[in-house]
Amino acid sequence: MITNIVKRAVAFTGKEDVVVLPVFRGSGELKGPGKKLDVLCRSALSSYIRKSRFAPDRGETALVAFDFPKAPRHVLLVGLGERAAANPERLAAAGGSASKAVKNRGFSSCHLLVDPLIEIEGAGGALRAFLKGFLLAQYSFSLKTAREDRKRLTRLVVLTDNPRKAVDDIRTSRVVAGQTAYARDLVNRPADDLTPRAMADEAKRLAREHGLECRVMGRRGIEKLGMGAVLGVAQGSPHEPYFIELRYDRHERGAAARDRRPRVCLVGKGVTFDSGGISIKPWQNMNEMKGDMAGGAAVMGAMAVASRLALPVEILGLIPCVENMPDGTAFRPGDVVVTHTGKTIEVLSTDAEGRLILADALGYALKFKPDVIVDVATLTGSVSIALGTRIAGVMGNDQRLVDLMLAAGRAAGEPVWQLPLDDSFTDLIKGDITDYKNFAGRDGSTITAAALLGEFVGATPWVHLDIAGTSWTQEAKVSYQSKGATGYGVDLLARFLALVAGGAADSAAPR
Ligand code: BES
Ligand code: MN
Ligand code: ZN
Repeated sequence: MITNIVKRAVAFTGKEDVVVLPVFRGSGELKGPGKKLDVLCRSALSSYIRKSRFAPDRGETALVAFDFPKAPRHVLLVGLGERAAANPERLAAAGGSASKAVKNRGFSSCHLLVDPLIEIEGAGGALRAFLKGFLLAQYSFSLKTAREDRKRLTRLVVLTDNPRKAVDDIRTSRVVAGQTAYARDLVNRPADDLTPRAMADEAKRLAREHGLECRVMGRRGIEKLGMGAVLGVAQGSPHEPYFIELRYDRHERGAAARDRRPRVCLVGKGVTFDSGGISIKPWQNMNEMKGDMAGGAAVMGAMAVASRLALPVEILGLIPCVENMPDGTAFRPGDVVVTHTGKTIEVLSTDAEGRLILADALGYALKFKPDVIVDVATLTGSVSIALGTRIAGVMGNDQRLVDLMLAAGRAAGEPVWQLPLDDSFTDLIKGDITDYKNFAGRDGSTITAAALLGEFVGATPWVHLDIAGTSWTQEAKVSYQSKGATGYGVDLLARFLALVAGGAADSAAPR
């Protein structure tokens, strides 16, 4: 990753290796800092733009070399497409393309002229998205023994005539990209390395680094709380289950009760490997199931972001961590688990394990009387049949909250789409000999999975995110993603938390 980011007023020395210049389609003459640049290279830049066939389509790049004393040696033009069609997801992709182009040419340092991105901005938008994409495109995960010899981009100088407007976006994008990369690392790590225990250790380390509180329960604690579903899923693995509790709270003690900040509970699925258990999965792509803790990773990343940005919310993060393995001691189809709340669930498929551990975690969450519960999980393969690998599924019991998540998705460039959830789906997961069953057939299975979760949140406003399609990519189709983990959900949750915090600040009513 780029470790060194500097912000400067626009001034060129001629020593710059490469200056990245974002261009909207049809933006006409170069203006402001772009114009400055053009003057230094005696209009060669504007004449290149005019005469070449550079079309500022989204993500299109062109590298132009100059030989003028005070001008940078190269300018990398990057197309942003139509201004009216720009959105955070597309701008992040453009940022990623620029970043890849710079890296592939072997530049180790680059300047980025960001003023074209500041002009079009409302509050925290274009520049934040572009920079996030730019930074994330440099991500890589490697356990190769040979050192990569290719030069790395390590230094980014942000040039702007408008430093006051840029400073927040630079800071925020840096924090968000850093934590998204962190979530990617957790997901990419092999399951024999990132065991439930290792995940719990990570949470403790994360808490120390970012000023969170962290408590970890082992088997004894989980038993005491009667989390029979977590224990059932963990039963076939030699790796013990762990239950992570993270807390972020900047609330000054002694402040008036009506200043209380909204309390949000984030629950993340933490299955460090999902073989399916006795209902074992086919071998093809089973390796990807090391990423079945991506929801937990997103929760960890988002809490670090919240702390770094000092968001005015209280957050409780709950992550049940288990490994789902087949074994002579494993739980089996037909077994019944008794959850934390006392409700019974018949296990029809040991591969529908996510909803089991989440049922325990959601029931436990109620103890903290949260204003809002969000759960994030790689819950069903069928969500990608419905929505593909770009858009996550969202469901919930409170339309205002779902709408907030939809808005957060647009702002983060991590889109979500709502699926219907009503009582008719809940009827489908009622058990024959138990309160519930964990499998209701293939039809609408993303929704029936959510419906089971919904039975454990009581009347608390709740949204569920199914990120099974978006947390992993088999090929790097998006410029700022690489094969493997995407880190999806960190920015989304961070945006959601900011919206919840903002909403609370707007309304005078105490909770
Ligand atoms: N972890 C999987 C879901 C998953 C599938 C995540 C593909 C990422 C990529 C989950 O535990 C699972 O196995 N779900 C089953 C549910 C079924 C047994 C009802 C599924 O989706 O097939
Ligand atoms: Mn499974
Ligand atoms: Zn799973």
